Amino acid sequence: MLSDALDVLACPLCAGALELDGRTLACALGHRFDVARQGYVSLLAAPTKFSGDSADMIAARERFLGSGHFAPLIDAVAAAAGSASAGPVVLEVGAGTGHYLAAVLDSVPDARGVGIDVSKYAARRAARCHARAASVLADVWDRLPVRDGAVDVALSVFAPRNAAELQRPLAPRGVLVVLTPTTGHLRQLVDGLGLVHVDERKSQRLDETLSGRFERLERRRVEFSMTLSHNDVEAVVAMGPSARHLDTKRRAEAIAALPEPLRVDASAEVAVYRRRDAAAGDVQPAQTRS
Ligand SMILES: C[S@@+](CC[C@H](N)C(=O)[O-])C[C@H]1O[C@@H](n2cnc3c(N)ncnc32)[C@H](O)[C@@H]1O
Ligand SMILES: [Zn+2]
Repeated sequence: MLSDALDVLACPLCAGALELDGRTLACALGHRFDVARQGYVSLLAAPTKFSGDSADMIAARERFLGSGHFAPLIDAVAAAAGSASAGPVVLEVGAGTGHYLAAVLDSVPDARGVGIDVSKYAARRAARCHARAASVLADVWDRLPVRDGAVDVALSVFAPRNAAELQRPLAPRGVLVVLTPTTGHLRQLVDGLGLVHVDERKSQRLDETLSGRFERLERRRVEFSMTLSHNDVEAVVAMGPSARHLDTKRRAEAIAALPEPLRVDASAEVAVYRRRDAAAGDVQPAQTRS
């Protein structure tokens, strides 16, 4: 719930603390942000050109993740996020429906979570993903409305990454967990359904993007085979980035022509990073949060 995350959030206009005033979050300078009826709050500093995933994409993501086919990926993220610190704060940036955030909150006792997404459809869904999660609408390419060093575990799962804004909110001893697809992900669907190809250098590019700010502690590949119905195939395609480029009628025809059920591979890498400044030792204690 939003009220449990007030010590983590910051005013997007002045970076000050936010208090709950009825159904509005307000800072000491009088900046006010209404909580939506669905339970999320928009903390955009200014209108953004990004709208994120559409209602149809979020509905498809809900269907597919609810089916359990990605359970090994969700479990791998939850395992990588496992933290020794008591009652950690978990931030997922580009949280979508909040399935991964909820799994991490379930696996870490007393953890509290914040899911950030720029899609209002995602923010609505993430607002009810877990009793200990708050949902915030914000743009990953902007300064995030989160206090410096307030986060113990940051998650980036199949989502856009802004290295500076993953580092700043992270506590010195916090960890960043990143899940990215490999070229083998959904490979049986890529050509036939015109899905976007994953760059062969994806994990190398990820390390390059993060290397100035983060040091990689571990990376592991998670690969498994799924048995998908046509409905599952439709959902996994409709929830992804290719959904924007594909004509719905042609996609339905191509799916109808596939064998059913169909074996489809999932393949991703889960990497864990810590802040480079923490590695160098020039850090403040993790308690300095407010
Ligand atoms: C592929 S989905 C992944 C969602 C979730 N992590 C999961 O794996 O189920 C990418 C998410 O990033 C969000 N997103 C895209 N651009 C964004 C931006 N500029 N700021 C915040 N979120 C963004 C989309 O709305 C979408 O929910
Ligand atoms: Zn303010």
